[in-house]
Parts: sequence; C-alpha cells; structure tokens
Amino acid sequence: MTPPLVPLAEIPTVSLLYKLKRLIPAPHPLAQPSKAFNDTISLIRNDITKLEGVDCIVNAANTSLLGGGGVDGVIHRAAGPDLLDECRTLDGCDTGDAQITSAYELPCKRIIHTVGPIYELERRVGKERPESLLRSCYRRSLEVAVENNMKSIAFSAISTGVYGYPSEAAARAALDETRKFVENPSHVGKLERIIFCNFERKDEIAYEKLTPLFFPREDQDPSIDSDDAESQPESDGESLKSAEILAAKLPDPPTVDPALNGEPDTKKQKVDIDQNEPSGKSNMEDFSIKSDDDWEEVDKSEDGRTEKLEDEPVEVDRPSSATDVQSIQSSGIIDMDGSHMSDSLLAKDW
Ligand code: AR6
Repeated sequence: MTPPLVPLAEIPTVSLLYKLKRLIPAPHPLAQPSKAFNDTISLIRNDITKLEGVDCIVNAANTSLLGGGGVDGVIHRAAGPDLLDECRTLDGCDTGDAQITSAYELPCKRIIHTVGPIYELERRVGKERPESLLRSCYRRSLEVAVENNMKSIAFSAISTGVYGYPSEAAARAALDETRKFVENPSHVGKLERIIFCNFERKDEIAYEKLTPLFFPREDQDPSIDSDDAESQPESDGESLKSAEILAAKLPDPPTVDPALNGEPDTKKQKVDIDQNEPSGKSNMEDFSIKSDDDWEEVDKSEDGRTEKLEDEPVEVDRPSSATDVQSIQSSGIIDMDGSHMSDSLLAKDW
C-alpha cells in the first residue's frame, strides 16, 4: 500500500514535541530558548517524498547530480524523468554546495540537491573536513532556499547513509549550523519551517537527543543547573493542560514498525581505503567508491527500498517515538502550536 502524504500542518514543531513531552529538555542546553525558533524547527520520521505542502526538500545527492541510490534514488523515482533532464543541465555540484531544481511530480515546489561529504574519505584528507563540509551543505541549502523565496524546507539526513557519516555527529552539525542560520538577523522571518526528516531510527534518536541542546524548551531557564529541567513550572498553565490532554490521547506504542512502510536502502556503498596510503589528497584518488552497479547485497522492493520477507517476524524494537509520523498523526494533532486539534483526526477511532 502506498504510504499516505503528510501535510505540512501535521509535521510537529519542536514546541509541540516539548508540550507532548516527546522531547525531553536537556539539563545543560547550549543555546537560549526561543519560541520563534521552536515553532520553526520540526522533526519527523518519514519518507521525505511524502511531505506535502513543504516548499522544498533537500536531496542527499552526489557530485554528478545524476541520481543514485538512497534518498536520491527515491526522489528521482518519485519526481519522474524530467528531474534528471534538468539535473543534466546543472553541470554537477561541489561537495558542500547546493543546487535547486523543480520538483516535477513530487508534492513540493522545488528540490535542493546538496552533496554531503564521504565521511571516511574526507576524514583522511583532514580531521575537520567532514564536519566543515556537512555544515556547508546545511548552510548552502538554507541560503539557496531563502534566495528562492522558499518558506519551508525539509532536510534528509545528509551523508548518514552510504556516505557513512555517524548519525549523532551529523545531527549535531546540522542543528548547530541551522541554529546559527536562524539566529542571523538577515534571515529572521525568511523560513517559517525547517524540518529534519529522518527515515531510520538511528537518525531519529540522534535528533531527539540533540535538538534540546540547540533548541531548548522555551520556558527553560538556561541558568538552571538542574538535572530535572522537566520539573520547571510551565509559563502557560493552559498550554500545559491542553498538551496533557493531547498527550493522554496518544495511542499505545505501534505494533508495526513504520519501517514496514519502506525502509531506505540498507546497502552500503563500498569504500576501499588503503590504510597505508598517505592521506592529503583532496579528491577520491586514494578511495575507490564503487559504481551504482557495485552495491552490497540488499533485498529491494519495486520502489528501491528494503523488503522484509513475508514470513519474517516483525520486530518492534521501540516504543512510540517522538517523531514517528504515525504516532504524531495518531495523536490527533495537526495544529503545531498545540492550540487546537484536527477534528477529522480526533474523530478517528483509535
Ligand atoms: N526519505 C527520507 N530519508 C531517506 C529516505 C527517504 N525516502 N531514504 C533514505 N533516507 P543516503 P548519503 C535517508 O545514502 O549518505 C546516493 O547514491 C537515509 O536513511 O541516501 O548522503 C547519492 O547519489 C539516510 O539517513 O545519502 C550519493 O551517491 C539519509 O537519507 C550517496 O547516496 C542519507 O542517506 C549520498 O550518500
């Protein structure tokens, strides 16, 4: 069954996730709380091609911009062949940079293609390079979005797939760079929603853990050196009450992992590294990145994602997660400031 589209209004903001206690405040946040930022930053676990009403989505591309596996493949398949035709006119993209195209058959307006670092390759060239290039991907994508009057943007977790960037380090760089971007006075009011759209649980876990460091709960006093920041009084009692009512309506943990709607490719791009080779090369000379025909074994469904064997037991390895779209949608909440609920969703028989 084709997974449903997820309208922008159903993508939870950080503000809402705090109200629902689905994000846990960090005892020692690294930044000042901001309601405006928390109403902008959003987290969801879903197929990025299913986000509807988001102005642009960010593709994890390669320097050729001519498509590939992972989210790149999914985006090209969903957008249709005209996307490849337009990409051919762009003459590629440098690592750390971003290019914009139309979105064709996707339910968004534009696609921003950015090229993340191949983690091991860049690390051999210089210790700081992976992070610096990954930050550049997020910064350039946000800049390109603003230059093109985009009001909302959804990122896939750049480089955390076949390019091998560790999830937590990637999330930290993405969140910090995004924080810097929204703090820049010249960007105020430019982007109304910045969405981190994860697909794999490992990336979602990283964002759940690190978002509170860079986007603390709005009523959290950063001067409080406390391990129970959660127990701070809410500035808005009504808001807390309504959030508690909403939280009480949350369904039981799902019995079917949302991954069954389609996991991303589990294939890993093979990176042959000669450990004895001196580093210092700034390109792929001493790394052999295999072609698309040279992937490790993977079971794929028609849409290119992993398929479970029919008789394989379904494993549920987690409770309902903070940003799993199924559980958020099932909470019956679509208004992201938490002030009201979707009648249609609430009318559902959970
Ligand atoms: N929606 C959202 N995220 C997804 C989806 C999806 N449908 N599918 C996968 N992801 P990857 P990279 C996540 O490998 O590491 C391509 O061949 C996935 O779980 O797509 O930057 C390109 O052409 C992971 O967290 O991109 C390049 O050659 C994230 O997307 C190379 O892969 C990025 O994983 C780029 O490697």
